[in-house]
Amino acid sequence: MKTSNLVLTLICVISLTCTHAKTGYFWHITDFHYDPLYTSQGDTRRHCRRADERGSSGHHRALGRFGDYSCDSSLELIESAARYMRTRHSENVEFVLWTGDIIAARYTGNEDDKYQAIRNMTDLLSRTFSSHFVFPVLGHLDPAPSESLTNLWMHWLPLEALQTFKYGGYYTIEQKQSKLRIVALNTNLFSVRESNSVQARRQWEWLDAVLDKATGNKEMVYIVGHAAPGSDSRHPYDMSSDANAKYLRTVRRHAKIIAGQFFGHLHADTFRVIYDNDRPVSWTFMAPSVSPHRDPADSSNPGLRLYKFDTNTGKVLDYTQYYLDLAAANRNVAEWTAEYNLTQYYGLHEVSAVSLHNLADKLQIGTPHETNIFHKYLRAYRVRHESSESCDGACAHQHFCAITCLEHVAYRQCVEAAASALAAAGDSAPLTMPLLNTVVIFFAFVIIMMN
Ligand SMILES: *[C@@H]1O[C@H](CO)[C@@H](O)[C@H](O)[C@H]1NC(C)=O
Ligand SMILES: *[C@@H]1O[C@H](CO)[C@@H](O)[C@H](O)[C@H]1NC(C)=O
Repeated sequence: MKTSNLVLTLICVISLTCTHAKTGYFWHITDFHYDPLYTSQGDTRRHCRRADERGSSGHHRALGRFGDYSCDSSLELIESAARYMRTRHSENVEFVLWTGDIIAARYTGNEDDKYQAIRNMTDLLSRTFSSHFVFPVLGHLDPAPSESLTNLWMHWLPLEALQTFKYGGYYTIEQKQSKLRIVALNTNLFSVRESNSVQARRQWEWLDAVLDKATGNKEMVYIVGHAAPGSDSRHPYDMSSDANAKYLRTVRRHAKIIAGQFFGHLHADTFRVIYDNDRPVSWTFMAPSVSPHRDPADSSNPGLRLYKFDTNTGKVLDYTQYYLDLAAANRNVAEWTAEYNLTQYYGLHEVSAVSLHNLADKLQIGTPHETNIFHKYLRAYRVRHESSESCDGACAHQHFCAITCLEHVAYRQCVEAAASALAAAGDSAPLTMPLLNTVVIFFAFVIIMMN
C-alpha cells in the first residue's frame, strides 16, 4: 500500500514538473468577406465593383487598394493581413482559429467561383501558417459542409474531425500535448431556419457527449464558432430563442471546464458575460473582422487578434488586438499595428468571468471616470474607426445589455427599461444608475405581478 502511494506521489511530482506552465499564442481571425470583384475603379453603390456599361458613369471617387469602409475586403487587404501575421510570434503560435464568413456577402459568383475563392483563401493561410494548424468554422455566408470543402481542409483536420465536419460542419480537436480540447461548432445550425433540422439535433447530442467526455477526462475546452449567443443592436438574435437558451444552459452546466468561447460575425470588438443565478461563470470574446464593412453603417477598421494562453490549462492570459488604419493605408502603405492589450487597456488583473463582469459594471454610464471607460470600450468596438454616430444614453446602455443579458427576453427587458428611464429623465439628462436600477426593479416587479 505504502509503496504504491509513494509511486503515485512520485508520478505526480514528475508529471507536475514536466507540465510546467508554458505560454503559447493563437490567432483568432474572422470575417474576411473576400470580394474577388473589388476594384479601386469600382462604385461604392455597387459594393466597390465595376459599374456595368449602362450604369451611370462619372460618379465614382477613386477607391483605395486596401479597401473601403463601405465595402468588403479586397484581395490586397487580406494579403497584407497574412503578411503581417507571418511576422508576429510565429515560433510560439500553437494554432489559428478562423471563424467563418470567408466570402463577401454579395459575391455573385456561382458555386464553383465561391469554392475557388475559398480555396484561394485557404491556400493563402496555408502558406502563411505553413507549420501550423488552422481550425476553420463555417459562417452564414459560407457554403454548407460538403465533400469538396472537407477535401479542401483535410490537411488541417484529423480523420475523426473530418467525419463530423463533412456531415454537419462541426468537429473537436484534442491538443495532445496539453489537456485542452477545441470544440468547433456550426452555429448556422442554431439559426431559426436550421435549428429544427436533423443535423442540428445531432450537433446538440454530439456537443453534450463531447463536453461530458471532456469532464470525465479532466480536459479544458475552448468553444469556437461564427455567431455568438445573445444579442446585439445590429445583429439581434442570431440564434433561435430555443437554441440560444439551450446553448446558455449547456455552458452553465459545463462552465468549470470551459476555458474560453470565441466568436466572430459582429464585425466588432466586444465580449459577453454568462451568469448562473447572478454569478458570472463564463465569458465569450468576439474578435473584429478583417472586412472593414458593417451593415447598415458604422464600419470598423480591419482587425486581427493574437491570444496569449497557458498551454497546459488553456487559461487565457491576455490578447493583443492588431488593426489597420484603413484610411491611412490607402494614402500610403498598409501598416498593421498593435491597437491595445486587453489586461492593460482595461486594467484587468486576469481574464475571467468575474473580472469581465466587473468591467461590464464599469461600462454603465454614471460617473465621469466610468464614462471614460465606456468610450475606451467604444473605441475598441469600432476598431478605432471614427464614427459620426454618437453613442450615449440608450445606445450606451444597449451595449451594457448586450454584454450582460444573453437570454433574449432579458435583453429585450434590459433595453426597454433603459429607454423608459431615459424618456422619464428627459433625453438630455445624464442617465444615472440609481434611477435606472429603480426602473429595472420596477419593471421586474410588474413582470412578476403579471405572471
Ligand atoms: C484564385 O487564384 C487564381 C490563381 O491566382 C486566380 O487565377 C483566380 O482568379 C482566383 N480566384 C478567385 C475567385 O479569387
Ligand atoms: C502588448 O503586449 C506586447 C507583449 O505581450 C507588447 O509587445 C506590446 O507593445 C503591447 N502593446 C500595447 C499596445 O500595449
